[in-house]
Amino acid sequence: MIKIGILGVGTVGASVANILESNADIIEARAGKKIIAKSGVVKNLSKDRGVNIFLSDNPLDVVDDPEIDIVVELMGGVEEPFELVKRALKNGKAVVTANKALLAYHRYELQEIAGELPLMYEASTAGGIPIIGALRNGLTANHIESIQGIMNGTTNYMLTKMINEGAKYDEILKEAQELGYAEADPTFDVGGFDASHKLLILASIAYGIDAKPEDILIEGIENITQTDVAFAKEFGYEIKLLGIAKKVANGIELRVHSTMIPQESMIAKVDGVMNAVSVVGDKVGETMYYGAGAGGDATASAVIADIIDIVRGNNAPMLGYKRGLESGFNLLPQDEITTNYYLRMEVDDRSGVLASITKELEKFDISIESMLQKPHRNDGRVKLLFTTHKCQEAKIKEAISALKDLECIHGDIAMIRIEK
Ligand code: HSE
Repeated sequence: MIKIGILGVGTVGASVANILESNADIIEARAGKKIIAKSGVVKNLSKDRGVNIFLSDNPLDVVDDPEIDIVVELMGGVEEPFELVKRALKNGKAVVTANKALLAYHRYELQEIAGELPLMYEASTAGGIPIIGALRNGLTANHIESIQGIMNGTTNYMLTKMINEGAKYDEILKEAQELGYAEADPTFDVGGFDASHKLLILASIAYGIDAKPEDILIEGIENITQTDVAFAKEFGYEIKLLGIAKKVANGIELRVHSTMIPQESMIAKVDGVMNAVSVVGDKVGETMYYGAGAGGDATASAVIADIIDIVRGNNAPMLGYKRGLESGFNLLPQDEITTNYYLRMEVDDRSGVLASITKELEKFDISIESMLQKPHRNDGRVKLLFTTHKCQEAKIKEAISALKDLECIHGDIAMIRIEK
């Protein structure tokens, strides 16, 4: 019999304990051994968790319990779970974690410390979708060309409502929080940080990139307006918050940002709180993974899959390869990212304005692909919306800063990247 201890018996932890009980027969048949949740740790013992396991408020009751074989870490945070996971591993226990922030900062150290002990984390990225398993197992014969996806349900829900119903940003954020998907601090969702943690985990398995969130391009959905939404619709795009890892000539692009993508692409059709990830392998071509990115039972499904994998004896290295066997990929500097861009600016409505803008863009060798002028105000100004042909991030940023100095342009210039 295998005994599980759960650090953090919130929504997901309670689901893990309850599913281990309700699906005990198929879990035993698949794992080859009986698996039971023995105990759990919570901060507040007076709250009813709806579980039939022993609860303590001392994490060491789980981590140091010699009867516990596998510690499941669902606490959230970074440094406290890091210390507890290290202690569990030193005590010879296997670990399953759903903690994306812990992995975004400490995955390589944890792989070292775990050594031959299993440390699994399927639930950390895109909740119930088995994307880690796909990269660690199913696609291991491939060089990964790209990973691109919707890795945050809260922002996808918000964008879907803004685009389909013209909903207002603040109201829709409140609604997303009520659904229970949003992080405790929703700036984590809307600012792209939650998605960046997941992207970094996937990029480690695919490319061995040892980067932290601070090292990569992260932007959120805060600046998207109904003007951008209307432009996107007119020009055949959807706007999605994407995590993108892409192999290019000089390295690996890693970025999280609002993105215009063609309406006909599969990811563009993923609405509401759902997540979807596309992985392109050099041999298999494009593969697509879709499902619930959060929620108690969906996330617990991934946690228990890891537990079963451990009981079956899968002790492949945590990131899919041993340290020192990475393929030598480097993170591409952010300025060298190359893509198409959409620009939104408010300008004076008079002769010569367009000419002075295009002249400025020409200085940076930026070529306009499409353009729309919206004469919607009575104050002598209009909105100008452009898309560009491909150019480098450094060039578009320099061009934006030069454009801001033009007298005919008022306020900020908004920029959204486009992926075709
Ligand atoms: N806040 C996250 C989301 C939860 O909205 O997708 C899952 O990590």
